[in-house]
Amino acid sequence: MHICVVGTGYVGLVTGACLADFGINVTCVDKDERKIDMLLRGEMPIYEPGLDSLVEKNAKAGRLHFTTDLDPAIRRALAVFIAVGTPPKEDGSADLSYVIQVAESIADNLDGYKVIITKSTVPTGTGQLIEKTISERTTSKHPFSVVSNPEFLREGSAIGDFMRPDRVVIGARDPQAIAIMKDIYSPLFLRETPFVITNVESSELIKYASNAFLATKITFINEVAELCEIIGADIHHVAKGMGLDNRIGPKFLHPGPGYGGSCFPKDTQALTEIARNAGRPFDIVETVVAVNQRMKVRAVDKVRAALGESLAGKTVAMLGLSFKPETDDMRESAAIPIAETLVSEGAGVRAFDPVAMDNARAILPPEVEYCMDSYDAAAGADALVIVTEWNQFRSLDMERIKSALKGKVVVDLRNVCSPERMAENGFEYYGVGRANVKLPE
Ligand code: UGA
Repeated sequence: MHICVVGTGYVGLVTGACLADFGINVTCVDKDERKIDMLLRGEMPIYEPGLDSLVEKNAKAGRLHFTTDLDPAIRRALAVFIAVGTPPKEDGSADLSYVIQVAESIADNLDGYKVIITKSTVPTGTGQLIEKTISERTTSKHPFSVVSNPEFLREGSAIGDFMRPDRVVIGARDPQAIAIMKDIYSPLFLRETPFVITNVESSELIKYASNAFLATKITFINEVAELCEIIGADIHHVAKGMGLDNRIGPKFLHPGPGYGGSCFPKDTQALTEIARNAGRPFDIVETVVAVNQRMKVRAVDKVRAALGESLAGKTVAMLGLSFKPETDDMRESAAIPIAETLVSEGAGVRAFDPVAMDNARAILPPEVEYCMDSYDAAAGADALVIVTEWNQFRSLDMERIKSALKGKVVVDLRNVCSPERMAENGFEYYGVGRANVKLPE
């Protein structure tokens, strides 16, 4: 079977490489020549653990191809996965223009029955829109099916998530398309991965509802953490006590500076937009979006409060810049408002991230200095702020950090340090949801 995957971002590239690893012949297409050239040279346009070796292995085996030439790739394929970007528009709704462009190319190259699969997160009704776009444009008599097959992979563990998913969701109208989808995913089907077979609209909504629910869970624990600081409770004990209830579960109860990344902020906003357009505003998710915004401001306030009256003339070491560990993705990272505020209020920033510094340079204010490692970043700084919970920050040599720092303040926005040990080491330590935290008025 030949498959075409359009778009070589996180979703497209991981999908393409993993499907090739299932033994399928896959052509990944992107209109960005630079990206395709990199991939042809064996270089990855994104940092994702294990992706380079998977791409190399399958490209060498002749199952994984890269090209900018969409038309022949569509003609060769029985199934076309659409994995192009759906960036948010000004009003928060998803911009579907790239999806529609691909649908138009499919219409122009429909030389036999094809299954067209949306893998990007798309608003409900997009399946129908694709169907309409192709039907109205094509001159071909060949039938086609539009399928929704949302991805649930997380950056940093995308390959594991694809190969061992909690579930595969397939939204389709006709049995032939469902049979082809089951065939594509047969290694997972044989491994007894649960399959949810439904209609296109339900499948599209499953993705948004899942992400919005997870974003709500994080926001809920962040608000509990705020309360902990005021009433003298410890968020880790509270989260543990809650998470041991099987109905709640322990995952996604880790407090922090508000969720970020390319998915939760975009998908929560898009879901509120879908609900408003349906005439039934989604009050909980509207609130989650607003509270998450407040969490970002609060993270900045925490740094400001820890440093005293004014930030002017202070130097802050920032550890971790990506929106979460194991990725170089800076989208909606808490590091952005923190660095911007520090710089605009006259503080110097010495930053370190294991992989995101190249991307950070294009996004953070130009005044930010990039350092060789955590100890270099701490050198001469008044405070250390841990923004992202990279594993290496969990095992810092605190004696070295102490002697490198000029001040004693550590603001740990991910609770990677033990407050007791930090106090023993002579630091003025501020975590999240832990009672010793001083808050601004
Ligand atoms: C998320 C979902 O987890 C995936 O299932 C989904 O496929 C993906 O979006 C997508 O729609 O493409 P991702 O954005 O890669 O994946 O990252 P997560 O690990 O979910 O983290 C998202 C944000 O929540 C990060 O800023 C992270 O720091 C934050 N978070 C997560 C917390 O603050 N606390 C937690 O307990 C968990």
